[in-house]
Amino acid sequence: MERRFHQEVDAVVAGRELGFEDVAKLKYTEMVLAESMRLYPPAWAMGRTAIDDFALGPYFMPKGTNIFLSQYVTQRDSRYFPDPERFDPERWRPEAKAARPRFSYFPFGGGARQCIGESFAWMEGILILATFAQRWRLRLVPGHRVQPQPLITLRPKYGMQMTIEERS
Ligand code: HEM
Repeated sequence: MERRFHQEVDAVVAGRELGFEDVAKLKYTEMVLAESMRLYPPAWAMGRTAIDDFALGPYFMPKGTNIFLSQYVTQRDSRYFPDPERFDPERWRPEAKAARPRFSYFPFGGGARQCIGESFAWMEGILILATFAQRWRLRLVPGHRVQPQPLITLRPKYGMQMTIEERS
């Protein structure tokens, strides 16, 4: 996966400074980012309060009910993402994506309060990954414990100690 990511970055960017026009060409980079936000959604849950009585499938929610929707839980559901703990950017091929229900993946929420910065976040995420990968690769320091910590956003509880290596 890393090799493929590097190949794409090298082919598209070819040593220059990246620009907005590169974003649409960095397809595999986008798939890597999408898969990262599937397993580690920065917004891992969000809440709503029913302003009226509300029926949803077999559930009845009286007015005032607080409802939590969790990206972290839904995006690790094997009905939508077989072998859910495996990191696999191939899940984001257009055909695979189109075969899943719309809200099986919602790192930016949805509906009336959908994230206003979504397009900006995709753009900056793709450009940051590709800019970094032009020259560097990251390796987790052996033995470093990675544990998600669900605060308002999802954080690595003990940080992420990485070694930065120059790509030859
Ligand atoms: C990876 C980056 C980001 C993630 C995962 C993210 C996620 C979200 C989510 C899940 C919501 C909906 C919360 C809810 O419905 O309860 C939201 C709302 C919002 N986001 Fe983002 N966001 C990101 C980046 C940004 C950026 C870059 C901006 C601004 C430039 C931004 C501005 C907003 C605003 C203003 C809202 C509230 C929209 C409203 O309530 O009408 N976000 N975001």
